[in-house]
Amino acid sequence: MKQQVVGILFALVAISNAAVKVPVTIYYESLCPDSAALITEKIHPVLQDELKEHVDITWVPFGKSEMYTQGADVEFTCHHGPNECYGNKVHACAINIIQANSYQAEFTRESLTLDFITCLMKVGKNFPDNVYPGAKCARENHINTWANIETCANSTEGSKLLQEQGKMTNAFQKPLTSVPTVVFKHVFDNDVQQMALKDFKTTLCGYIMEPKPKTCMPVNSAAGLSFIPFLGAALYAVSRLV
Ligand SMILES: *[C@@H]1O[C@H](CO)[C@@H](O)[C@H](O)[C@H]1NC(C)=O
Repeated sequence: MKQQVVGILFALVAISNAAVKVPVTIYYESLCPDSAALITEKIHPVLQDELKEHVDITWVPFGKSEMYTQGADVEFTCHHGPNECYGNKVHACAINIIQANSYQAEFTRESLTLDFITCLMKVGKNFPDNVYPGAKCARENHINTWANIETCANSTEGSKLLQEQGKMTNAFQKPLTSVPTVVFKHVFDNDVQQMALKDFKTTLCGYIMEPKPKTCMPVNSAAGLSFIPFLGAALYAVSRLV
């Protein structure tokens, strides 16, 4: 009985800790330069420390694409052309297929997905030797399921997964007004979006509940505190002089 109570308490603590993560939804496109800038320059660098424990990212790689059903399959037209449709399918498949590496605790599903997506976005629109960088990015980021991801992206499975991303995007906004769009806690706010594109870290920190991680403490508050003894000493010196 006592053990059960303790077990339930542990479960509750686990649930409340998990609930603390800030849900962030990123609507983006695989070959979109602004999406690449957000993911590679703003999000990826910020989520290297403890902050990554405080965020739950939902990746939605569809953007301003359009889709229509063609018999049993789904056809897409994409903002930056057919290569982007293929890229979006690779992203959709990767998000679905990548799992935590059970041998290495630091490789969580979330961090592997973020690293892989960041690598793909970094390459930009011009693939080296005209080869989609999937295999290369998988190799460089500890993803051992590239074969499955590629098979998925090249089949109707990839179309179905991208269709799901399309449905999510259309349910949110049809058509999407700006790519990328960043949504915190499922509520879109244009001011927050503009702020997040400039300073993702401060925006995210604003949504994290107390006690906030150290990295969210403003640098000048620490500087301000260390300033107080100097101020005291200065005041004392002045009082001695007069
Ligand atoms: C999958 O599709 C891409 C893009 O069309 C192509 O370059 C690649 O060779 C295909 N891979 C397989 C295993 O069919």
